[in-house]
Amino acid sequence: MKILAIETSCDETAVAILECTGDPTKGDFHMDILGNALHSQIESHKEFGGVVPMMAKREHAKNLIPLFKNALTESGILKENISTLHGDKIKELENIFGREKEFLADFAKLIQSIEKPNIEAIAVTEGPGLEPALWMGIIFARALSFVWDIPLVPVNHMEGHIMSVLPQKINFPALSLLISGGHTELVLMKDWYQYEIIGQTRDDAVGEAFDKVARMLGLPYPGGPEISRLAELQRKTQTSTPEYILPRPMIHSKDFDFSFSGLKTAVLYSLKKEETPKEVVAKEFEDAVAEVLVSKTFRAIDEYNIKTLIIGGGVVSNEYIRKQFEEKVAEYSELKLLLPTPQLRTDNALMIGLAGYLRWLKKDKKDLRNTMSDIVAVVAKGNLKLT
Ligand code: KG4
Ligand code: ZN
Repeated sequence: MKILAIETSCDETAVAILECTGDPTKGDFHMDILGNALHSQIESHKEFGGVVPMMAKREHAKNLIPLFKNALTESGILKENISTLHGDKIKELENIFGREKEFLADFAKLIQSIEKPNIEAIAVTEGPGLEPALWMGIIFARALSFVWDIPLVPVNHMEGHIMSVLPQKINFPALSLLISGGHTELVLMKDWYQYEIIGQTRDDAVGEAFDKVARMLGLPYPGGPEISRLAELQRKTQTSTPEYILPRPMIHSKDFDFSFSGLKTAVLYSLKKEETPKEVVAKEFEDAVAEVLVSKTFRAIDEYNIKTLIIGGGVVSNEYIRKQFEEKVAEYSELKLLLPTPQLRTDNALMIGLAGYLRWLKKDKKDLRNTMSDIVAVVAKGNLKLT
């Protein structure tokens, strides 16, 4: 079946169309990416040193329709066809769009110029994320669902990051380490659809810590890639370095929680005390983060007898952190490491389509009605938890 997926939880606007067959839970799953359109807003948020929610919202509203058209075109299912929306439909659409008048005008123009494509479900991120940003994807998905009578499937963004490793095979129990600019979580899965958060950050997310430390060093946003570039430089040159040591926060605590704000503060104090080359700070910071992540994750792997380790989220792009995990996994005979391909690491709509397909399989099709009350039941949930 063809599934349309929409993601707007943070600063990536993404629309994808997937063709999925089979059932991952039965080991016979297949997927083809038919269309994948993504716009990163990094350039707009850069000067503010982080994501500005209201600006993210505006950009989503502006970019969703062009991206949607690109994804349909790439999939070969965009057919032009002039039609007219009638009064009662327009009234309902006005309710769906609320104050987003310009977005509604663009939507009305779009929908009256194209034919309903052969899509069976619309997956949309309902949370967690920035609520104003989430709403734009949800409004767009609601409107398409209403006009074309296609069922909506709300998706948890974090389930999306976990499912970003499909169609690779997951053996249970599985553990997911989700590391991004917004999250640091260890999620235990004893089976399909069963999630238990066994550890999480008590303050900053890993990516956030990278971004904040980068800012202290005068490096541009997003800081992760910059820090890892400098850290690599330091590892390669091997020049004699001054003694520079950062803490490994919570590395010995009995739980599986993390804390990165202390690490960030330690960098701040050290920079105030004496001048240290940026590369030295970057390398020690990356070492500290990697050590804590590996140590905590593997304690959970041992305790729960984990068969598959999944690592998802933007920080997976960090080569050094990946290498530390790969080396440690190699010491285990029955542990498999699953990583998403680069296009599925940062926020994207493909992973929302994959998680949406799984949710679709679980749905009792008898319950699918697509009435307005079903449609408006899908709402933005900024703090949505995985359960
Ligand atoms: O998953 P993502 O694109 O968006 C969120 O949901 O947050 O992750 C973005 C985060 C940013 O904090 C960025 O600095 C970090 O991932 N990141 C990295 C690297 N590439 C991106 N962190 C460390 N090393 C990297 N190479
Ligand atoms: Zn994410």
